[in-house]
Amino acid sequence: MTEQLYILFCESPFQTNKVDEDFEDQFISAKENGFETLLFNFEDLTSADRFSIATKRIKQNEELVKVIYRGWMLTPNQYSILYNDLLTKNFKLINNAEEYQNCHYLPDSLKFIENRTPKTVFEKFENETSIDKLIEKSKAFGQKAVILKDYVKSEKHDWETACFVADASDTDKLKKSITKLVELRDKYLNEGIAVREFVELNDLTIHSKSGMPLTEEYRLFFCNKKLVGIYDYWEEGEYKLSKPDTTEFEKIAKQVESNFFSMDIARQKNGELIIIELGDGQVAGLPDKIDRNEFYKQLKICCC
Ligand SMILES: Nc1ncnc2c1ncn2[C@@H]1O[C@H](COP(=O)(O)OP(=O)(O)O)[C@@H](O)[C@H]1O
Ligand SMILES: [Mg+2]
Repeated sequence: MTEQLYILFCESPFQTNKVDEDFEDQFISAKENGFETLLFNFEDLTSADRFSIATKRIKQNEELVKVIYRGWMLTPNQYSILYNDLLTKNFKLINNAEEYQNCHYLPDSLKFIENRTPKTVFEKFENETSIDKLIEKSKAFGQKAVILKDYVKSEKHDWETACFVADASDTDKLKKSITKLVELRDKYLNEGIAVREFVELNDLTIHSKSGMPLTEEYRLFFCNKKLVGIYDYWEEGEYKLSKPDTTEFEKIAKQVESNFFSMDIARQKNGELIIIELGDGQVAGLPDKIDRNEFYKQLKICCC
């Protein structure tokens, strides 16, 4: 493979051959840092009948080259379609479908982070019975507080009704909250539901709109097992402390079977740092405060 590196972005839903407005700043920074750019149609890829034409404007490349996607989240199935489609044109996405799912789905990432992340139980969601099975598994938490999410996302802005449950043994409340989470995620529900032990995190502030507690959290990116950077997670709140030492997380990252991923870490009230979740680096958002140019500059260094 040649060393020329490509970044794949989503095309604007309003104008062909133009990058999605939400990624314009990243598109510019990628170019400024020497990446080639490609566009595909996200709406086509995620549709039921046009997925096969999503990359129609990408021409066949002469030799096999590496490409990194930066865009909206995809299901593992959609990602797999994109991966195979691009490969026929000699563009190889940095992660294959399995590597993508490794960090995209919480149950798949647990095997890499189990020792440094809150205890978690999960159940694939098929019907009502799945909720009952999950409630049964949640007995492992006793009367502890828990938080809920699907295999990818929580409804953290509905903290009280669909995310946080103060006592896992209160099965009525647990069932209500899981049902609410399923209702809110609706057709975007990712595969199943996870219940996680709630740990007390170091407070920063309360979210100005949703009232959700904002805590001392950081997003780390790793490319080819190398740390791209560590960034403050929230735009609000004051990060008074200096950035944590990442040595132990860099060690954990070496075991993660993915070539590009994010790792969210948080400081507990007792000072100890834990991992909240991993994400595929191609679909993990850049916190607002990250300097886009700096990010793509570091990414270039790490992925070469
Ligand atoms: N086990 C936990 N204990 C305490 N707070 C948590 C826990 N897990 C998540 N949180 C808080 O909830 C937020 C959302 O959880 P997260 O798993 O990151 O979901 P999402 O994928 O929606 O970002 C986190 O940013 C963190 O502030
Ligand atoms: Mg998160």
